[in-house]
Amino acid sequence: MTPMIPPMLDFATGRLRGAELLEKSTTLADLHGLFADPAADAEVDSQTVLYRVAMLPGSGVEGDLNMGVTHLEAGRIGSEFFMTRGHMHARAEQAEYYFGLCGTGLLLLQDMAGVCRLEQVFPGSVHHIPGHVAHRLINTGETRLSALAVWPAIAGHDYKLMAERGFGLRILAGEDGAPRAVDSSMK
Ligand code: F6R
Ligand code: ZN
Repeated sequence: MTPMIPPMLDFATGRLRGAELLEKSTTLADLHGLFADPAADAEVDSQTVLYRVAMLPGSGVEGDLNMGVTHLEAGRIGSEFFMTRGHMHARAEQAEYYFGLCGTGLLLLQDMAGVCRLEQVFPGSVHHIPGHVAHRLINTGETRLSALAVWPAIAGHDYKLMAERGFGLRILAGEDGAPRAVDSSMK
């Protein structure tokens, strides 16, 4: 019997290979209204791809797991660093793991009470995202940030909840370019 060659993940670059991947790109236009500065948003080509997710196709059945790699580009809209849309799981109790592969950034976590915390993302970082916690990746570095995610196939995505509530923190570049967390209600 010849052992099969499974799909492969290059941990240095986040590149997934060897299987029929599902790929989804998210452009600035898809994230319309998410960034704090509408004038700065309007200055950037709306078709700019901010991030891509490459996923191994999952069966979707209860008990199965999904895995995917998010590649989030480096850049800013005004002073705000590129970020993912962010979501709660549709089955909110379902947890997830993120693993930093390359680049540097932050993982913003927000619980149902609106309490936020940040974790540094870097090659080798491990992030447990409990159930009932919304999550968003932010690239604060100068190169692409790639992170592996593993989550239950039944978790789903609830984007509406966080579109309505919003995340309580924004990550902006200070005058020196370094990231600082700012309360979203402050201008
Ligand atoms: C899956 C998960 C990630 C994100 C990806 C893109 O549960 O958390 O694979 O889906 O980082 O972010 P969103 O989905 O917020 O656009
Ligand atoms: Zn998730």
